[in-house]
Amino acid sequence: MTAFPARFLFGSATSSHQVEGGNHHNDWWDWEARPGAIADGERSGDAAGWWAGRAEEDLARAAALGQNAHRMSLEWSRLEPEPGRFDRAAFDRYRAILDAARALGLEVALTLNHFTLPSWAAKLGGWTHPNLPALFEGFADRAARELGDRVALWATLNEPSVLAWMAYAGDRWPPGEKRLPSAFVAMRHMLEAHARGYEAVHRVLPHAEVGLVLNMPWFVPADPSRRLDRVAASLQDWAFSGAMLHALRHGELRFPLSWTRRRAPSLAGRLDWVGLNYYGRFDVRFDPRAAGSAFGRHVQEPTVKTEHNDWGRPSPEGMVAQLERLAALGVPLYVTENGMFDPDDTRRPRYLVEHVEALERAIARGLDVRGYFVWSLVDNFEWAEGWSTPFGLYALDRASGARTPRRSAEVYAAICRAREVPTALRTARAD
Ligand code: GAL
Repeated sequence: MTAFPARFLFGSATSSHQVEGGNHHNDWWDWEARPGAIADGERSGDAAGWWAGRAEEDLARAAALGQNAHRMSLEWSRLEPEPGRFDRAAFDRYRAILDAARALGLEVALTLNHFTLPSWAAKLGGWTHPNLPALFEGFADRAARELGDRVALWATLNEPSVLAWMAYAGDRWPPGEKRLPSAFVAMRHMLEAHARGYEAVHRVLPHAEVGLVLNMPWFVPADPSRRLDRVAASLQDWAFSGAMLHALRHGELRFPLSWTRRRAPSLAGRLDWVGLNYYGRFDVRFDPRAAGSAFGRHVQEPTVKTEHNDWGRPSPEGMVAQLERLAALGVPLYVTENGMFDPDDTRRPRYLVEHVEALERAIARGLDVRGYFVWSLVDNFEWAEGWSTPFGLYALDRASGARTPRRSAEVYAAICRAREVPTALRTARAD
């Protein structure tokens, strides 16, 4: 008998800017134009053509693979091109996409904001500006009114801590401030935005389920017997996961090595579910020169090499460990992203099987996990990596627009159809 509950969601995930194409009015469009900003020198361009009409056919591919859900996001810059002015045609396009999903039997998990900001919001200073949470609340309210009859499962924001580190403490994502205090301010404002967005959706849709999506890599000391490795690993964990978990549980944003304690505005009770984006494990070695990354250096060999390999080493038990931590929040759990970039698709099939097997164990242990979404359905624009790190179940030929299923697509389809890992694919027997 399958470990998965009857209503378990098996899907894949995308985000607006990464697949839509032509998002001229957000912060990423401008950022991509800067020389050297994107690893392969490419731009999002037409992306996977979703806005121009290809969303529906890709969703049909997902359904044909046996998936019963899809996670996607709204592009704030399309829907509110100027503060307070909403674009009816853009809402119509999303309605068409959501209707197609429903007709295909796909339940949609809809993220209100997946990293990109409208250019006008970026000009204010992005998430460092104190008005951003209220502006986001206005957007959330409108989105719930326009699309609420089509969507039950909402997420406010995607990975606040990743955005804070990459874009505000770091300089690889817009606005690239490279100021640690900005990251803390941005994080606080994103938590406030979550709380306000939660309220806004619930005011319109009392029965909606509104969650937040966190990225929680598994940071482990490179040498567990070395105290400084343990300290560096736990500092990195705090920066990504611990700070968020603490804020969601105790309503207080606190940072290590600082006396800063800020009340996180009214978070208590404002979470109906939580999403885990999980890619892998990092082995952390203390390094006094690595002040910018909490005195920790990652020492494991990347599974697939690129200039920047930010996804860690595959480690399904890390996913279970993070789900166990999240269970302390007392709300249902979803794995909202899991996958690996693997151009040859030689390792991804096994990666997917191992992670679904780990999920079976987690559920058997009593964790209330309600869905699993592979990142991603089709190759897409991978932020600062451009098009150099393909994550898709489908390979995308950008010149022709052709989609080709990778072996991973078939392997995941077999899992979705059986609603468990079929015996022939189980790792004990896998090649
Ligand atoms: C996540 C992010 C996605 C995608 C993925 C793979 O952190 O939410 O947008 O880029 O990583 O890198």
